Amino acid sequence: MNEIDEKYMKMCFALAKKGEGKVAPNPLVGCVVLDKQEKLVSKGYHKKYGQNHAERDALLKLKNNEAEGGTLYVNLEPCSHYGKTPPCVDLIIERKLRRVVIGMKDVNPKVDGLSKLKAAGIETDFVLEKEAEFLNRMFIKIMTQKMPYVVLKTAVTMDGKIAAKTGSSKWITSENSRELVYKIRKNFDCILTSSNTVISDNPAMSQTKWRCILDRELRTDKFSKIYSQGNYYIASKENTPLVNGRLDLSAVLKELYNRGIYSVLVECGGTLAGTMLKQGLIDEIYQFIAPKILNDNQGLSCFNGDDITEITQAKKLNIYEVNYLKPDVLIKACINSF
Ligand SMILES: NC(=O)c1ccc[n+]([C@@H]2O[C@H](COP(=O)([O-])OP(=O)(O)OC[C@H]3O[C@@H](n4cnc5c(N)ncnc54)[C@H](OP(=O)(O)O)[C@@H]3O)[C@@H](O)[C@H]2O)c1
Repeated sequence: MNEIDEKYMKMCFALAKKGEGKVAPNPLVGCVVLDKQEKLVSKGYHKKYGQNHAERDALLKLKNNEAEGGTLYVNLEPCSHYGKTPPCVDLIIERKLRRVVIGMKDVNPKVDGLSKLKAAGIETDFVLEKEAEFLNRMFIKIMTQKMPYVVLKTAVTMDGKIAAKTGSSKWITSENSRELVYKIRKNFDCILTSSNTVISDNPAMSQTKWRCILDRELRTDKFSKIYSQGNYYIASKENTPLVNGRLDLSAVLKELYNRGIYSVLVECGGTLAGTMLKQGLIDEIYQFIAPKILNDNQGLSCFNGDDITEITQAKKLNIYEVNYLKPDVLIKACINSF
């Protein structure tokens, strides 16, 4: 591993990210090709589910096979099986690359591109493995757990309140934050919310393909805005098992996965957020913090569970991104191992 390898692998990460929101359940993949003089000759990425993989995208741009004897960088092990497109390793071997630098091994058990590359005498190396796994944390969960990736989005005051005691919560954050929320939603397949939130806020939540409403007793008004935005799925006691009298939230997420929903943005109040956190169903939190203080203990809290009595038992998160949106702040944090 050297600085040059790191530089080109980071370029692969940046290319891969262009596919965000468009490739699931496939991984985010970017590829960079150098010729035998180590000059960058092509770049590619996986643009959309079903379309060419990053390696194919980059190599097919080279009309005179400038890749021969060169190095190919890709953030995920090249595939070796027939899926929607033919195996990328075959094209890499055919184009006579000398070396392939990979970010992470593919968690898909059908893939063993590494052995095939080695058998063809191509040198292989790994670089920035942890970073590559972080980039594809959604793909890793979808592939290994067969469950959607779940992000909770909240908007809070500086004292962690999502609404006043009257239930009023519009608008805690600024226009800048709300515009960003519309963009974020487009990267998810589905927004999941609760009957309480639909009843109190009547949100439209229109930017995703799907909306899921947890409404055990079917209390929400069918003329609520959320029902006029296209596809929706209501989880109620009619179609979902109950656990201790509440909807089984794991079963709801599994049902969404079975419907081809691979990423879920949860937008709800503290009761549901607290329950999902306690049940280990949230992978990440996007927390918008407005420079406001409610200063009222009866204001509604962002997490309203009864989980923990000692500060030492508090849930620990890893913050991986902080954005200053003027005047708000957006903190993105992972709950699990990343
Ligand atoms: N600032 C923000 O980011 C933000 C975002 C959204 C909402 N809010 C505010 O939050 C307030 C609503 O908060 P809330 O705490 O009353 O409601 P909530 O957390 O949104 O939802 C609680 C509801 O979720 C449903 N649920 C389904 N399965 C559940 C389970 N296994 N465990 C727990 N709940 C389950 C229950 O509905 P059933 O009774 O139908 O089972 C329960 O009443 C509103 O005032 C809204 O304005 C703020």
